Amino acid sequence: MSLIVRPETPADYAAVALIHQRAFGREGEARLVTAIRESDNYFPALSLVAVLDEALAGHIIFSRCHIQSAEHSFPALALAPLAVLPEYQNRAVGTALIWEGLNACRRGRHEIVIVLGHPDYYSRFGFTPASTFGILPPFSVDDAAFMGQGLIPDALQGVSGTVQYPSYFDNV
Ligand SMILES: CC(C)(COP(=O)(O)OP(=O)(O)OC[C@H]1O[C@@H](n2cnc3c(N)ncnc32)[C@H](O)[C@@H]1OP(=O)(O)O)[C@@H](O)C(=O)NCCC(=O)NCCS
Repeated sequence: MSLIVRPETPADYAAVALIHQRAFGREGEARLVTAIRESDNYFPALSLVAVLDEALAGHIIFSRCHIQSAEHSFPALALAPLAVLPEYQNRAVGTALIWEGLNACRRGRHEIVIVLGHPDYYSRFGFTPASTFGILPPFSVDDAAFMGQGLIPDALQGVSGTVQYPSYFDNV
């Protein structure tokens, strides 16, 4: 089995949309990926595909968001969405996308990543509840599911506030 994780190219866009549609069983996440690409918050090096035995099996994207306090706006990345085609799930494709994605974020000198998802899954990759850092979601959600991590030592030192997602996140 060969598994390669690499940045997406425009030739992947249709297959990436299909991955999200099939993994989530709806259109919202695929639309979100398109909206991110069309925004100023898109980093091509942070939109990665997993190629398993030459088939596109999964996709992850990190895009710019902010953590807003009363006085400061701290830059961060939102990890969303992540999807693996149902027939390729439970083969460590998601794991590879997250680890490679976090490495790409570090290479790009990004310091903070926020994710809303399953605590049992994301805690494997160093995410912990964001509320422990004083970072809060802009909506009502289970505390354990709203997570963050700093990518360099002390990245979260002095950072607190409410995460602000671009408005296209509202349409998922
Ligand atoms: C979540 C998802 C990306 C995981 O990808 P994957 O390639 O199947 O995951 P991996 O093979 O790397 O990891 C599998 C492990 O994750 C666990 N896992 C998978 N989905 C999980 C979930 N929703 N909650 C908790 N654990 C989960 C599996 O039980 C398995 O555990 P094990 O290692 O103890 O056996 C994939 O299942 C998916 O696309 N789901 C639908 C879309 C989705 O929910 N995306 C995430 C939104 S936050």
